[in-house]
Amino acid sequence: MATLTGKIAWVTGAGSGIGQAAAVALAKEGATVVLTGRRKAPLQATAATIKKAGGKAEVQAGDLMKAASVTKIAKAIDKKYGRCDILVNNAGLNILDRTFAKLSAKGIDEVIHGNLSSAFYCTTAVLPMMRKRKDGLLIHTSSVAGRVPGPLSGATYSAAKHGVVAMSHTLNMEECVNGIRSCAVLPGEVATPILDKRPVPVTKAERAKMAQSEDVGDLIRYIACLPAHIVINEVMINPTWNRGYVAALQRAKG
Ligand SMILES: NC(=O)c1ccc[n+]([C@@H]2O[C@H](COP(=O)([O-])OP(=O)(O)OC[C@H]3O[C@@H](n4cnc5c(N)ncnc54)[C@H](OP(=O)(O)O)[C@@H]3O)[C@@H](O)[C@H]2O)c1
Repeated sequence: MATLTGKIAWVTGAGSGIGQAAAVALAKEGATVVLTGRRKAPLQATAATIKKAGGKAEVQAGDLMKAASVTKIAKAIDKKYGRCDILVNNAGLNILDRTFAKLSAKGIDEVIHGNLSSAFYCTTAVLPMMRKRKDGLLIHTSSVAGRVPGPLSGATYSAAKHGVVAMSHTLNMEECVNGIRSCAVLPGEVATPILDKRPVPVTKAERAKMAQSEDVGDLIRYIACLPAHIVINEVMINPTWNRGYVAALQRAKG
């Protein structure tokens, strides 16, 4: 029997990139996955891929920046399955105009709500189901920018992702007594559609050297398969060809 057979996993941002890869990997491991994002079509494509491989998936589309949409989806999960064993709190976004020279109030709200408020909404929505069973795992896709701020990611994105890391650690501090575990995953550059929003376009050759969605999806699967008595609190995953390091090396050589 696969490790996650009988488990219900809610994966946000499951229509593309890391979320899609994580959903496919968790379903392969036996979990029934609930797929959320704003656009229905990519979620349906992820569900079709999972079902074709013999897995179980359902689509629950919604905008996670709206607390009411999050509550609605969590209630639907509770009603249908009576449990949520794993939350992959992965949905996120960034904006083009991310430097302070260009930052607007609209951009600030979008990035903070789209990466931090949404993650808090999903967390608070699943905790009652997890507490009831004295078991649950939350895996949050933060970012290396959640530890190391920099203009490449922008201040708002970095602040939001630092917030996600803080949320995850605090969850372990408060909820460990309820059998609930939380892990912050901090990826460096991963070749996903989010890169299309970079102010400086990223070439195909550069994307090929980065971590791929499946690399991070497999890490999430690994974390989800750990026994319930242990937790990886925080983990960083980077491409070996780290563009930040390579640029620093070039500067060092003069
Ligand atoms: N790629 C990287 O280099 C990298 C590095 C570090 C961290 N991350 C983080 O990894 C996570 C996944 O991103 P990705 O790289 O896989 O990029 P992606 O392909 O753009 O995935 C982001 C997903 O989030 C969904 N989403 C965004 N806002 C949403 C909202 N308000 N409500 C519901 N769904 C929403 C998007 O779907 P809809 O547009 O249909 O809603 C999309 O499927 C994000 O949190 C990102 O910040 C990425």
